[in-house]
Amino acid sequence: MSAKDIIEKKRDRGELSAQEIREFVSGYATGEIPDYQASAWAMAVLLNGMTDAETTELTLAMADSGDRLDLTGTVDIALDKHSTGGVGDKTTLVVQPVVAACGLPVGKMSGRGLGFSGGTLDKMESIPGYRTDLSTREFLAQLKEVGLVLTGQTGDLAPADGKLYALRDVTGTVPSLPLIASSIMSKKIAAGAQRMVLDVKIGVGAFMPDIDQGRALAEIMVQIAALAERQAVALLSDMNQPLGYAVGNALEVKEAIATLHNEGPEDFREHCLEVIEQLLILGEAASNEKEARDLALSKLADGSAWDKFRALVQAQGGDLSFIDNPESLPQAPIQVEVVTERAGYLSEINARVVGETAVDLGAGRQKKGDPIDPAVGIMVHRKVGDQLAEGDPVFTIHANDQGKADAAHAELFGALAWSDTAVEPLPHSYDVVK
Ligand code: URA
Repeated sequence: MSAKDIIEKKRDRGELSAQEIREFVSGYATGEIPDYQASAWAMAVLLNGMTDAETTELTLAMADSGDRLDLTGTVDIALDKHSTGGVGDKTTLVVQPVVAACGLPVGKMSGRGLGFSGGTLDKMESIPGYRTDLSTREFLAQLKEVGLVLTGQTGDLAPADGKLYALRDVTGTVPSLPLIASSIMSKKIAAGAQRMVLDVKIGVGAFMPDIDQGRALAEIMVQIAALAERQAVALLSDMNQPLGYAVGNALEVKEAIATLHNEGPEDFREHCLEVIEQLLILGEAASNEKEARDLALSKLADGSAWDKFRALVQAQGGDLSFIDNPESLPQAPIQVEVVTERAGYLSEINARVVGETAVDLGAGRQKKGDPIDPAVGIMVHRKVGDQLAEGDPVFTIHANDQGKADAAHAELFGALAWSDTAVEPLPHSYDVVK
């Protein structure tokens, strides 16, 4: 079948065969199928969905589009974590060093920003010198010697996903359950992960808006892991309001550094601990959540998690003086406070509006390959449920351009909703799917 026939079949709600999926994926990976046909196909998938069988086949086809990494011999248990994407989601920057400090090596390949959600690679690149393009040989050597690696998809791992991920980012085709599940799981399978925690974000600032869709995504990913003889646990976590206070690359690195110093926002710290608990149990460093949490807290308190983060940054060429003195990380010249125009209880801080505003400021991409401005973003000073007086600051905009700062100021008012009566804080998480 030609690429056009495959697109038309999905447009007309047909179920693609394994062979059609494999042909399309390998054609796109080799460049035979151009971006415009892949975009049309991705939009057809987004609009018409895929069966579980199609999603599984798409995952395996993308995992097979390049090499597969074998971590046996490098680590005892190949552990990994992956988030489905959110706003202010700097979880990996804290979770990975803590888990490594607990004695479990983690080699992780992360992605760039996707739509309104931030990307771990973009965040780490705000540390001058930090390399995100390690070769497979460097990846394996660092994992063995340092116990943690945080880089981009090395060499030829799941190249079909690498291309499709960048394309989806700029063609409105991110929020699709089969495309997200196959993107994440193809990378994890290709990267050799044996046991993984999937952080499935749910809410307006996530690609899955409600619990039912989040659970469906979690279940298909856990099922694909089992089919590929891996073990996955999915945490369903809240993403209605931004995670922590910082949204924007260097701002988020600073917040992660504070958290590794045993400080940081309470909601972000709690979320990291929930992810860490599952990883430590999967990695057999703890037998239950309480034991895992106690171990993690001890590594935050004694500075060993921070030491691991420094070791990671150093191993990947980052300039330690910037993380030892986070105020020297890129800083935007324009900072504008957004203050409330009324008193009341905050009932919403819409994470999507905040994420989109951060992208408009330059923290994310509008077009494939656009440069990122590491300094810009938004500090969110409050959480849902807080009581505010008129004139209290809610956001600080960090911008490099006065026009963009003014536009962000207007946009951010649209993120807030109010109540005159008390509002319950949002939960950190909803469930764990095993
Ligand atoms: N993370 C990924 O790796 N892929 C997606 O599609 C969404 C989040």
